[in-house]
Amino acid sequence: MQVLLSQEQIQARIRAMAAEIGADYPPDEEIHLICVLKGGFVFLSDLVRALKARVTLDFIALSSYGKGTKSSGEVRLLKDVDHALEDRHVIIVEDIVDTGLTLHYLQEILRARSPKTLRTACLLSKPSRRQLEVAVEYIGFTIEDRFVVGYGLDYDERYRGLPYIAVLTE
Ligand code: IMP
Ligand code: MG
Repeated sequence: MQVLLSQEQIQARIRAMAAEIGADYPPDEEIHLICVLKGGFVFLSDLVRALKARVTLDFIALSSYGKGTKSSGEVRLLKDVDHALEDRHVIIVEDIVDTGLTLHYLQEILRARSPKTLRTACLLSKPSRRQLEVAVEYIGFTIEDRFVVGYGLDYDERYRGLPYIAVLTE
């Protein structure tokens, strides 16, 4: 296991992202964060505290990966959000954008529910792996094509609790 991004690096970056997000919306308007479970939960917890009182939250769960490190290419909705999106400023909060298949699917189904605005925030992006062009307005770090764990990201449900991002070496 090799540390790619330290806890300090990640937290400083998330504070900067929160400042950027906060400045992008009218100050008196609420931002509705939709966390993509399970991987997005650690990023969400830092982001929501950095954004303070301006946010409401919801959760959605999708599955595209089976066991292991390769995408099955098939996205399934496992748990829908609890609240309507109409007239809300929605930001999808996701751990990583890889092929883009998951986000492409998610953006389509959420856009159909008429949010006032719809944007996406990802802690990590692996642009070299993209199969579909998806708009991601807020990206924490761009990384190479390596399988990473920690900070919410798992390998077979393990390592989500690591406070840093590490490269899984076989
Ligand atoms: P995409 O649909 O290929 O963009 O994949 C998105 C999902 O795959 C993410 O939400 C992650 O759950 C998972 N994923 C992609 N790359 C990694 C990685 O390097 N480590 C852990 N999970 C990953
Ligand atoms: Mg995920």
